[in-house]
Amino acid sequence: MKRFTRRDFIKAALATSGGVLVSTPLQAMTRPAFPSEVTFQHGVASGDPLQDAVILWTRASPAKGGESVGPVKVTWELARDSQFTDVLRRGSANTDLARDYTIKIDVRGLEPGASYFYRFIGASEQSPVGRTRTLPEGRVEQVKLAVFSCSNYPAGYFNAYQLAAQRDDWDAVLHLGDYIYEYPADGYATERSAEIGRALPEDNVGELLTLTDYRKRYALYRTDTGLQALHAAAPFIAVWDDHEITNDTWKSGAENHNEGEGDFFARRAAAVQAYYEWLPIRPPQGERNPQIYRSFRFGDLLDLHMLDTRVIGRDRQIDFAGYIGEDGSFDGRSFAAAMADPERTLLGKKQLAWLDETLEQSTGHWQLLGQQVLMGRMHLPAEIMINYATGGKENPTAELAALKAASSRGEPLSDAQRDRLAQRAPYNLDAWDGYAVEREALYRRIAELNKNLVVVAGDTHNAWYSHLKDVSGRMVGLEFATPSVTSPGMESYLKLDDKSAQELAQGMSLLIDDLQYCNLHQRGYMALTFRRQQVQAEWKFIDNIDSTEFTEAGNHRVVHSLA
Ligand SMILES: [Fe+2]
Repeated sequence: MKRFTRRDFIKAALATSGGVLVSTPLQAMTRPAFPSEVTFQHGVASGDPLQDAVILWTRASPAKGGESVGPVKVTWELARDSQFTDVLRRGSANTDLARDYTIKIDVRGLEPGASYFYRFIGASEQSPVGRTRTLPEGRVEQVKLAVFSCSNYPAGYFNAYQLAAQRDDWDAVLHLGDYIYEYPADGYATERSAEIGRALPEDNVGELLTLTDYRKRYALYRTDTGLQALHAAAPFIAVWDDHEITNDTWKSGAENHNEGEGDFFARRAAAVQAYYEWLPIRPPQGERNPQIYRSFRFGDLLDLHMLDTRVIGRDRQIDFAGYIGEDGSFDGRSFAAAMADPERTLLGKKQLAWLDETLEQSTGHWQLLGQQVLMGRMHLPAEIMINYATGGKENPTAELAALKAASSRGEPLSDAQRDRLAQRAPYNLDAWDGYAVEREALYRRIAELNKNLVVVAGDTHNAWYSHLKDVSGRMVGLEFATPSVTSPGMESYLKLDDKSAQELAQGMSLLIDDLQYCNLHQRGYMALTFRRQQVQAEWKFIDNIDSTEFTEAGNHRVVHSLA
């Protein structure tokens, strides 16, 4: 790759009128001659860094005349320093209601592994200054990533984002989805929203269905100071999970979509459009195409593949309830047949073929899959699941964990006790456990290619660390899952206090063979550090989400070294 000097930058800037590539055609617009009266109340953001490019983002809200004033124009600047004494690039950008007054600039011709500062300028207001970074090239010794998922505005303040924003050494921030939630004002995790000052605004209290609904929700989320701070601090590499569209989305429907809510694909298209408008992302197939999976190369150290396990290819989830007869009996045979269907897919055939080929061609020392749902095998003793499902009073988890501990100390168990431990089932069929045939094929491929695999996941709202093992018990990789920013986790579904949640976490790590660690009651994020011979995951927890006053509330660190 050609390395640009500063003079090259200026030449390139002059030659291409700023080298600006705004993602929608602006030629058709009437362009204002001068910067417009706008405000930058949603901050700035950057994302999808490459070795020579990065997306810069802002929203230029028209200051006068509401949002029907027609096109507006702003100036943007990219500099080496935060004071903008060394401006490398300058250009202008136009936007209008057709893209909700958001602006995305794909700045090209940058240097690899370099930090830059950027800002936007209107007639009388300047945006906050953002810091961004391009991906490194060549030999790389270390990559640091912050990993997030599940920020739910009515549930609390985005302090986890704020905590990560206090550091300035991230190569990138990975967002694994549920960046927004589609629920109405009285929906999921909204119980305390009014009390803590996080009620949904009156013009956006309903469930999100239309383009306007989705846009307003993004605008609301972007008023959070923690989220604004993190966007300004580092480039994001984001994928959606289900709630950017609607709960438990699959390729042609969703749990939280019914006929009365109109055509699913029209709703999905609106959701995708708003996501692409508001996230600093370079959609690989253009701004109208829901294909979001794509790769990033951190020099020779790490290849990152961001996957879509929700929208593009997923077959409908299998539900235990669908196999329970009127007499309450469970049709285990049909259930097992459905689970074993070789055609059943989570990624979809096209994405799977792409991943297969991409992994084969990737030469990075580590391969990292950034995706939504837990990949690790999470099989629990059936007794525990029946107990939770039926609201049983006597929770058998502690007793079973004690049996498991005794067994691993070599103490003899009775046949009945062994049976209690041996009868297991996956507890979440919305995750890879519900698509085990495809998971096994992926594991086989990783093993064949002899890759150092790390998988990150979000979705559950809790922290997890699992060994990824195929059916033969061969270890093919590691999975680190990030807790939510604010959405309630297992402690809330099961109504556990902190102490019981900690006991359950210990019990689960014992009872689930491949699970090494979990935290079931704290909010936060995950810091990943890749070096040549080791990967470190550190879960950072915060003490509250009820106000913007918070402190760090402990962490947990795992270091895995290559043999
Ligand atoms: Fe979530």
